[in-house]
Amino acid sequence: MERILIIGAAGQIGSELTLELRKIYGNSNVFATDIKDAQADIKETGPFQLLDVMDDKHLIHFVIRHKITQIYHLAAVLSGNAEKLPVQAWHINMNSLMNILEVAKLVEEVKKIFWPSSIAVFGPSTPKQMTPQVTFMEPTTVYGISKLAGERWCEYYFKRYGTDIRSLRYPGLISYKTEPGGGTTDWAVEIFFEAVKKGKYTCFLNENTVQPLMFMDDAIKATISLMEAERSKLDIHSAYNICGPCLSPGMVTDSIRNYIPDFAVEYKPDFRQQIADSWPQSVDDSLLRKNIGWQPGFDLKKITEIMLLKIREKNNFSK
Ligand code: SER
Repeated sequence: MERILIIGAAGQIGSELTLELRKIYGNSNVFATDIKDAQADIKETGPFQLLDVMDDKHLIHFVIRHKITQIYHLAAVLSGNAEKLPVQAWHINMNSLMNILEVAKLVEEVKKIFWPSSIAVFGPSTPKQMTPQVTFMEPTTVYGISKLAGERWCEYYFKRYGTDIRSLRYPGLISYKTEPGGGTTDWAVEIFFEAVKKGKYTCFLNENTVQPLMFMDDAIKATISLMEAERSKLDIHSAYNICGPCLSPGMVTDSIRNYIPDFAVEYKPDFRQQIADSWPQSVDDSLLRKNIGWQPGFDLKKITEIMLLKIREKNNFSK
């Protein structure tokens, strides 16, 4: 029987992944934790506890006490925020991962770990279109450097200690349940919320900046499939490329205008434009498709329909 620890359960990914894992493994076997309070549904459907992944002693006690067999470590400082406090962000992103890797090494019951990497591992010297799995990687952001170093540490622990750690280089994730905070792809979520709430949006990237994106349901499906795959089927021991639709703010605006014709968008690029310009515009994820049969299910049209519908529902509910 699996007993799963989620770190960062109140965040954009964790708030959805926790509920999905509870459906599969049973509510009481999925332990949601975060440094901040979680949403009501996380607390009502199963165990939730405050836990700081930086506190290695508390972490290892928690893992032993609850007989944890799998850990999903989702806590991180995203690209935009990390540029504001580089040293602190490096400390949090790296040391939290090192704490998890050490726990997995020390506690025999822990069999598998998931830790997300990101398209931020790539940099200006990386080919921008259909970025290969293995290519030049010279990230220019603190977040990207920490994710690339993290990937190398994951592979190191696999080779040296046999730690079974699995990872995806997530593109920007689009979701309606919990908004992301401080990333360079946040516009792809904000734009839908502002369209519904205000009918206008000021975008921090240029109209034609294309970024690899993905709907949250696809990200969750890929993550769980990767974790459930037989180890022998996986060629990668660091992180897999993964990609959904590749979209610019202009393309998403046009799609929203099919439902909200007078939606007004202004473009005021900030420091995140330079970050976006250093990242790929599309990513080759054929190895993940081959290894776990991955295929995205949500294109721009579907994403727009669902985002607008769900945000309207949320809005009406909170009024
Ligand atoms: N969404 C993340 C960010 O923008 C990329 O992994 O920082």
